[in-house]
Amino acid sequence: MGRWRIGVLVSMAFALLAGPAADPVAGPSRNLPGLLRGMVVAQERQAAEAGAQVLREGGTAIDAAVATAFALAVTHPVAGNLGGGGFLLARSANGAAQVYDFRETAPGRARPGMWLRAGRYDQREHHDSLRSVGTPGSVAGLHAAWKAGGRLPWARLVEPARKLAAEGFIVSPTLSDSLKQSLPAFRKHGPTLAVFSRKGRPFEPGERLRQPDLARTLARIQIEGPEDFYRGRTARLLVRMMVKEGGLLRRRDLAGYRVEVRAPLAGTYRGHEVLTVPPPSGGGIALLEMLNTLEGYDLAARGPLTTEGSHLVAEAMRAAYRDRARFVGDPAFAPAMPVERLISKAYAAELRSAIDPQRALRSSLEGFETGEPEHTTHLSVVDREGNAVSLTTTLEDYYGLKRIVPGAGFFLNNEMGDFNAVPGRTDATGMVGTAPNLSRPGARPLSSMSPTLLVKDGGVFLVTGSPGGRTIPNTTLHTILNVVDAGLDAQAAVDAPRFHHQWFPDRVQVEPGARYPPGFLDALRAKGHRVVERETRQGVAQVILVRRGQPSGGADGSRGADSAAVAE
Ligand code: DON
Repeated sequence: MGRWRIGVLVSMAFALLAGPAADPVAGPSRNLPGLLRGMVVAQERQAAEAGAQVLREGGTAIDAAVATAFALAVTHPVAGNLGGGGFLLARSANGAAQVYDFRETAPGRARPGMWLRAGRYDQREHHDSLRSVGTPGSVAGLHAAWKAGGRLPWARLVEPARKLAAEGFIVSPTLSDSLKQSLPAFRKHGPTLAVFSRKGRPFEPGERLRQPDLARTLARIQIEGPEDFYRGRTARLLVRMMVKEGGLLRRRDLAGYRVEVRAPLAGTYRGHEVLTVPPPSGGGIALLEMLNTLEGYDLAARGPLTTEGSHLVAEAMRAAYRDRARFVGDPAFAPAMPVERLISKAYAAELRSAIDPQRALRSSLEGFETGEPEHTTHLSVVDREGNAVSLTTTLEDYYGLKRIVPGAGFFLNNEMGDFNAVPGRTDATGMVGTAPNLSRPGARPLSSMSPTLLVKDGGVFLVTGSPGGRTIPNTTLHTILNVVDAGLDAQAAVDAPRFHHQWFPDRVQVEPGARYPPGFLDALRAKGHRVVERETRQGVAQVILVRRGQPSGGADGSRGADSAAVAE
């Protein structure tokens, strides 16, 4: 018998014998069957491998997610980060689940009208200035999740990232392309240019990228944990840059940063339990609202990617994005959000009654006072015990602000760009100015990130999520419909073409170069939808599907070429 077969038998035996993770948040364990093996799916292979190795050493899904997330900050600097934030949804094999909300917060000096200059909206200030940097949450968030559900030592989990930064790694064609694309922006900031170019010339595929300052920051975080980042040397380096170069963030913002541990939003879809993220992401509300609406139609018969099905899906998207714009923001600042109603089956029935199966509705601004690129990243993890993690993290834009902190080596976010631009101005271009999402001291900007888990018969069934700004809930919806309604496997569910409707602008956006079924786009037009092609593909989903204890990965290689599924 070959070695791998023995390995499989041993892990099967282990899976049968092992109980769920003995983690403190999970509570007393029931004797649940585990999985045949664990798996990590992420947007860069070395980072996924770092997580898979942690699983091989007996780490939990949270341990693996932490190792992968730190490694992504080195090997996928477009979006992997120390200087950004995100949401980690963890579910233990025994059913306990929580969301670690480590979204950035607005510094104490933020104000709702801060993006206006002499009464006019200043786009550059909002998205491309040091004032657009929110207090980063990633280091605190990963640490909080590890404290609750980790098993291996913290320093062990940070080590692969530190090593990759110190020793360097070989630049892939995808990374080389993205570094080239951002070179003009890097040129405006000497310290960034020094690390992310070779003396001003772009890195070519096959060359080695070393990040010595980042390696030293990671070494401090290995030893001191979040203390270094929020109160120690790293904090001082960050604040020094802010003071010198005109940013808002100060020591008290860093020292006061708190991770919020929240109950996941829960719903059901055709017999599956759906767990997803609550506000300050609007993604979970939108996703549940769309699933509830679509549950009332026989999509399996119509097919999610047939014209009949797609028209209904587009209408569900239209309604959900309107509600997101109207109601959702940081719960600490918008306490009157009608979350329960928005995710209820009764509300979905009301929405269905307004949908015309034959004809597209028109988006309307009635009741309102009158684009995001692909640069966030998602990772999905399961371990042998059946614990699962769905984690989406972001710097907001491509390489965030495109500036690293001098001496600390990590990119800063420009997440304040997710706050509404102009209070009171909502318009048909997609600009939203509603009250729940204004820049206020300490507030978390409204997100679309939607890390999600589906549970079937008490065990994890699907782990899914994606980057893509406002398209994220829709990409996540597509992966769920493709698995549940169309019966596709993980890879096919990820590969299938996607589309996006976000209420305003009132149009269905489709992917360039995607293979839609013949006649599909024309038929959507015939129902009255304006159909336009996007400039880029939609999202980069990373999915794990579990069937009979066997995980299979769907890595979105056609949209993010370095994506990889790595089994334990
Ligand atoms: O939180 C959000 O929804 C955005 N900051 C995410 C940005 C994004 O996904 C950009 N592109 N992939």
